Amino acid sequence: AERTFLAVKPDGVQRGLVGEIISRFEKRGYKLGSRQIRLVVEPVKILIFFLQPSKDLLHNHYAELSSKPFFPGLIEYMSSGPVFAMVWEGTDVVSVGRKMLGATNPRESPIGTIRGDFAIDVGRNICHGSDSVGTAEREIALWFTPDEVVSYGLAQKKWIYE
Ligand code: GTP
Ligand code: MG
Repeated sequence: AERTFLAVKPDGVQRGLVGEIISRFEKRGYKLGSRQIRLVVEPVKILIFFLQPSKDLLHNHYAELSSKPFFPGLIEYMSSGPVFAMVWEGTDVVSVGRKMLGATNPRESPIGTIRGDFAIDVGRNICHGSDSVGTAEREIALWFTPDEVVSYGLAQKKWIYE
């Protein structure tokens, strides 16, 4: 199944929006596909990856934006606190996931999207989602080792997919 890399950025973590963002993808029917290495959130057994990204990791992650004027600020912002990194799996999860996050600029993001409901500034847009299937593969490989990405069957699958 298709996979994407989603992350709650440091502002989303500080503002207590991790649960809200996970909840939206869970309720939509998508499957969390990353497992925890550094922290287990008991008792819900949601398996995740909560880490302080290094500047090297972020330079690599946002490599294509390195010439942009906002790049230094972006790296400062993204390294300013822990990030909640996740792999999510399901049909068209890359493109549907982007729609669920909304536009890069929260003020242009429709109400009902995560950014449109919870953010104001482009430089504090609380979440990340891979922008293509190829990017998703690159980002998952960058943020996770293969053994941190899990495969398992979702019991409710037949109630979500025809
Ligand atoms: P990500 O999911 O974080 O990759 O966002 P995106 O794919 O919607 O946008 P893009 O990859 O083009 O930019 C990456 C991040 O850089 C954005 O999420 C913003 O946090 C930041 N960014 C993009 N454009 C601007 C800008 O014009 N000004 C500022 N301050 N930040 C920007
Ligand atoms: Mg992007």
